[in-house]
Amino acid sequence: MHWNGLIVFITLEGPEGSGKTTQAQHLADWLLARGYNVLAVREPGGTALGDAVRHILLDFSSTQMDARAELLLFCAARAQLVNDKILPHLIRGGIVVCDRFADSSLAYQGHGRGLELDILQQVLEFATYGLIPDLTLLLDVEVSTGLQRKTSGKDWNRLDAEALDFHHHVRNGYLSLAGNEPSRWEIINAELPFDEVATQIQRTVTNALKNPPTSAHHQASIT
Ligand code: TYD
Repeated sequence: MHWNGLIVFITLEGPEGSGKTTQAQHLADWLLARGYNVLAVREPGGTALGDAVRHILLDFSSTQMDARAELLLFCAARAQLVNDKILPHLIRGGIVVCDRFADSSLAYQGHGRGLELDILQQVLEFATYGLIPDLTLLLDVEVSTGLQRKTSGKDWNRLDAEALDFHHHVRNGYLSLAGNEPSRWEIINAELPFDEVATQIQRTVTNALKNPPTSAHHQASIT
């Protein structure tokens, strides 16, 4: 959703260990320092319901979770976040920086788990109130490099522990999503040092703020 040609809804996506979360926070701080009214959120989470669902989704005791149940839980957390936080902030005229959004479900539950993409698109449109990001930054990293970064960290979770094949499908899924919609996506090489990645993100966002896409995005509705 963008108002008066201004880019307002920015999402960061990427496979495991892409450094997305740190870069999302860095981007939000950078925009705040430039006087923008910024809300930074992450998925799943950001609301009481979202945090509870996040726990179920990432916990190792949920190993037998059905792929459709998994999708719907991510979508439940997403609908709550869109309704409670994202849309109200956009309607107030602010910018939202979101660490993962509906494209994560296309990459993980669609390309990763093999759920049918056409059906997924419909479920996602429903869960997001039709909201589509204005700009999506894909922080791309080789699967082995990303997983290596993650294993050395403390937040190893149920999805990280999936087979290598799954992670390859996710990464390739992201690349194909970005390739199909180049006006919305920007692919960033997340294997570069942190500062270089941050600079490239800032350059992309600066350009997008100056030259918003002309394609008609869905108008989100709020109840
Ligand atoms: P998190 O610890 O937030 O990982 P990251 O730092 O990589 O974002 O865990 C979120 C996990 O959930 C991550 O493995 C990606 C996965 N995920 C999905 O499978 N589908 C989704 O729709 C979303 C939002 C996340």
